[in-house]
Amino acid sequence: MSSPVCVLTGATGGIGRAIALRLAKEGWRLLLVGRNVKQLAALQLECGNDAEYFQADLSNSESRDDLAKFAQQIGGATLLINNAGVNVMQGFSEISEQQIDHLLNINLHVPIKLCQLFLPQVTRNKGTIVNIGSSFGSIGYPYQTLYCASKFGLRGMTEALARELSHSDVKVLYLAPRATDTAINSPQVRAMNKELGNTMDPPEKVADALIDLIKSKKRRRFIGFPETLFARINGAFPSLVDNAIAKQLPKIKSFFAN
Ligand SMILES: NC(=O)c1ccc[n+]([C@@H]2O[C@H](COP(=O)([O-])OP(=O)(O)OC[C@H]3O[C@@H](n4cnc5c(N)ncnc54)[C@H](OP(=O)(O)O)[C@@H]3O)[C@@H](O)[C@H]2O)c1
Repeated sequence: MSSPVCVLTGATGGIGRAIALRLAKEGWRLLLVGRNVKQLAALQLECGNDAEYFQADLSNSESRDDLAKFAQQIGGATLLINNAGVNVMQGFSEISEQQIDHLLNINLHVPIKLCQLFLPQVTRNKGTIVNIGSSFGSIGYPYQTLYCASKFGLRGMTEALARELSHSDVKVLYLAPRATDTAINSPQVRAMNKELGNTMDPPEKVADALIDLIKSKKRRRFIGFPETLFARINGAFPSLVDNAIAKQLPKIKSFFAN
């Protein structure tokens, strides 16, 4: 029996790399997806066994179709992890139309389309889809308008699909990291997190949480305290979080306002 295949997008990023190495140890056959061939090839070597890589700009629909075909040729995905993502942290008025389209495409439209494209393979293999969200998928945060829109959308889509497929053999899961030490966070974001006392997790912590989630019977996992608590309070009593963030706003603004 060959190992089950995991298709991992954003494999060359900080969280993706940690997830890839962790899943390789667990015996998964990785199909690493990213745009940078050198980084993909280096990671393939580190993952060992029979890891494969596929170079794709996921905003391109032909590349997504080719990726799905390639995955099918090596046994079909048993695990799809929609991890690729981008961020724009700046004042709402300064965001361009092109930035709006790009961020919503990569963080929301692409994972939705990949879920649809891979569902037949994952269904045949009685497998699992994991969408990587964020604590900003539950808490609206100043200067993160687009990112919050995309991750709130992804959380809603994941929950709806999990419920739609709840009588099937496919599991659909949502993992929400808090701030994590990767290249997605600009020097400004790092400085702001330091000033506000926000913890930045190592990517390995996200990889561990992902393993726990896929082995559990849970459908969602939020990482870190107090972010998890804030997410719950925001759901039930949003005005409490409005007030807490309003107090932080001058500090946040000092990092991003022109
Ligand atoms: N780090 C955090 O603080 C944090 C917190 C919560 C949630 N998250 C989420 O965790 C996930 C991983 O983020 P990260 O922190 O690991 O960021 P990262 O280090 O910047 O990695 C992002 C990954 O996404 C890929 N990607 C971006 N645009 C792409 C495109 N058009 N086509 C194909 N791949 C593309 C990148 O590939 P290339 O190498 O080709 O650019 C890279 O592998 C994201 O969904 C992010 O929203 C991160």
